[in-house]
Amino acid sequence: MPLETTTSVVREAPAEAELLAVPYGPDLSPILSEPLPVPVAALFAHHGSKGAAGEIVEIPVQRGAGVGRVLLYGVGDGSPAALRKAAATLVRKVKGRDRLAVVLPRGDAAVFAEAALLAAYGFTIGAPRTKPVAELVFVDDGASGQALRRGERIARAVALARDLTNTPASVKTPAWLAERAAEQGLPVRVWDEKELAAEGFGGLVAVGQGSVNPPRLIQLSYAPEGAERHIVLIGKGITFDSGGLSLKPNENMKNQKTDMAGGAVVIAVLGALAELGVPIKVTGLIAAAENMPSGSAQRPSDVITPYGGGKTVEVLNTDAEGRLVLADALAYADQVLEPDLMVDIATLTGAITVALGRGVGAVYACDDSLADDLVEAGRASDDRLWRMPLVEEYLPGLESSVADLANIESGGRYGAGSITAALFLREFTGGRPWAHLDIAGVGRSMVDEGTLTKGATGFGVRVLLEWLAKSR
Ligand code: BES
Ligand code: MN
Ligand code: ZN
Repeated sequence: MPLETTTSVVREAPAEAELLAVPYGPDLSPILSEPLPVPVAALFAHHGSKGAAGEIVEIPVQRGAGVGRVLLYGVGDGSPAALRKAAATLVRKVKGRDRLAVVLPRGDAAVFAEAALLAAYGFTIGAPRTKPVAELVFVDDGASGQALRRGERIARAVALARDLTNTPASVKTPAWLAERAAEQGLPVRVWDEKELAAEGFGGLVAVGQGSVNPPRLIQLSYAPEGAERHIVLIGKGITFDSGGLSLKPNENMKNQKTDMAGGAVVIAVLGALAELGVPIKVTGLIAAAENMPSGSAQRPSDVITPYGGGKTVEVLNTDAEGRLVLADALAYADQVLEPDLMVDIATLTGAITVALGRGVGAVYACDDSLADDLVEAGRASDDRLWRMPLVEEYLPGLESSVADLANIESGGRYGAGSITAALFLREFTGGRPWAHLDIAGVGRSMVDEGTLTKGATGFGVRVLLEWLAKSR
């Protein structure tokens, strides 16, 4: 379900707003449009307020025959991080209410609106336990209209990625995912299982062959007039990862409906490009399959051939399936789409959660400036990234005795699960500029806090949109 909270913009604080939020900083001087029942300075002293982001001082006020509240909200140093925290705290405070009027703080209105809407996100099937605030009314002197629209568009893209990722795997088959992709208002091409087999997409076919829900490769094309550069975004779209015959224990399996989070991000990003006016050509590829054990499933020790036929792969563990479907998409992008640059995004390895935890995603890149740009976009967008090394010395870990490559490191010689996975992907990039985002740790949140809601995070939408907006 799309983000339910609606927004509007007005010039002046509505005098009769039942809930009116007004910003204040460390100077403790909110810009108030009406007198309060108590002196503001005494009020802040009483609460020990310092103007920090996340602080809210509530004041009951008369509204007609009833009662309303003015919510004085701290904005700290007014930095993007502070505004995000302030906005999210406010919106969480007024859950279930009809309307909140918010006098905008000084600073980045896009970031403020984005965070407010993300904090309002929820996903339930059946009766929702709590409803978000139904409407946000931004009070703005007219200068922030464009920024507000941008923040809202980004938040709605993140919400779409979250919705797709939170949807149960019983619903979101690869074919269903292709239908959602086709709703983004862009030219779409979908390969079904027969076409995939006929054209040599050996990774998708092998991973998908154990499931009654056959695999799909989904391509979305965004090509604004006059665009010269061409970037391909590739998302891992495993709609459920049971591990296949290398079956996961239940504890590790129960959250694996989110294993298409990267694919969801690619769909949501492509859907937002036109409205955000991104001036470059972007192609999205979603490699979608369900990884299931059955009589027709691939076996550990099978040898497969990803797209293009350049390399054979011995499948030593059917649970290392993401890299097999990504190999197809990377090789196809390299050989057919011939982009200037490609970026893949994938919930690829449990190992990256050990390395970076749930707050920071990994970026691997063979190109320093590409890595720097993505890390910088991560900082600016709040989807934080940390660069990980492609350690050449670990490459022999992927040797196979029967094929060109093995899909996992056997023998545990090096023991760097996320790095060897990235090295495996690199084999299929044809030496083109390429970056890989491992979002297994950050794709899902354990907490309902700030701009995060328990479950899918949509991590990747904001950093990729920020990065694309800056790319030329
Ligand atoms: N989808 C998983 C990675 C994952 C783990 C995502 C936890 C989100 C949370 C991936 O397909 C996988 O199973 N990776 C294996 C690789 C191993 C078999 C080499 C892993 O990380 O254990
Ligand atoms: Mn797996
Ligand atoms: Zn997986």
